Amino acid sequence: MKILGIETSCDETGIAIYDTDIGLIADQLYSQIELHAQYGGVFPEIASRDHIKKTVPLIRQACDEAGITLQDLDGIAYTAGPGLIGALLVGSSVGCSLAWALDLPSVEVHHMEGHLLAPLLDENNKPEFPFVCLLVSGGHSMLVDVKAIGDYTILGDTLDDAAGEAFDKTAKLLGLGYPGGVILSELATQGDKTRFKFPRPMLNRPGLDFSFSGLKTAVRMTWMKEVEKEDYNETTDKDQLVKDIAASFQEAIVDTLVKKCARAMKQTHYKTLVIAGGVSANSELRKQLKQLDKKLRITSYFPELKYCTDNGAMIAFAGAMRLMKEQGKNNIIKAYPRWSLEEIEN
Ligand code: KG4
Ligand code: ZN
Repeated sequence: MKILGIETSCDETGIAIYDTDIGLIADQLYSQIELHAQYGGVFPEIASRDHIKKTVPLIRQACDEAGITLQDLDGIAYTAGPGLIGALLVGSSVGCSLAWALDLPSVEVHHMEGHLLAPLLDENNKPEFPFVCLLVSGGHSMLVDVKAIGDYTILGDTLDDAAGEAFDKTAKLLGLGYPGGVILSELATQGDKTRFKFPRPMLNRPGLDFSFSGLKTAVRMTWMKEVEKEDYNETTDKDQLVKDIAASFQEAIVDTLVKKCARAMKQTHYKTLVIAGGVSANSELRKQLKQLDKKLRITSYFPELKYCTDNGAMIAFAGAMRLMKEQGKNNIIKAYPRWSLEEIEN
């Protein structure tokens, strides 16, 4: 089966084709980052309008890349949520219309299910069920008990900011622009992570929930105090301050995520840990989780770097897995800005 995947939930137009016999045969991605940078965040109306421009041309390019025509497809998968409603509606309208015109089944995919299954795209090193998944993106921070495709129990969730959101907001505070998570993590490699001891939220309480807004406030207070206290005429001093805050902040987030993962592994007694979502690209998180592997005698799996952040491949793959299990749907356009992983229909 050849399944077209359409991802338009936020600021990336991702189009891919997954062949259940061969694997991924096309993968196209267009990022709107430059369009939104001037606003310091995603401007929803601009995102929708740009998806309208890019979705159909990228579908054509994906078919060219795979060397097939639309008639060779067996089904269409699209992200139905969660995400920005206008942006979601572009992908779901195009996906359902195309499926109707080609007389194909369509299937709505949960964006976070796409992230969660992304490590399974790696044919040579894929995790086996059951596993615990740490899902860390710009909109979510969750620990999920994954028994099988579609069988998800949320073990812990964020009470306020998601991990990626905390990275982005802290980067903005430090004047690193948008989207700053990646820039902050790069600067962190040149900083002293022991210079500031930021709080590790919720670690002193039982349970697997997260909360990152207090950490963000602690960073703001430190930043304001340091800038006021020191005479930062020398640019180099201020540059070093930014790097040290970045490193100390990253250490607090990573330490919290790693300790919660350890707790989840002990609670479930599973031996496999999967990390997915934009923040799973973070090299310090990857490094510390690999150390946890040795300590707990578990194995952790990460998606390839290009499949950590939003992409069409994960949607094509999740859609293919669903279409192999079920008949596909009646091409009714679905778009859910809020949608829990536990509400996915099996
Ligand atoms: O999964 P994703 O592309 O979009 C959502 O579904 O939200 O995740 C984007 C988030 C952003 O907040 C971005 O700052 C963060 O992932 N991110 C990172 C890194 N790369 C992306 N955060 C920390 N370190 C990174 N290397
Ligand atoms: Zn995402």
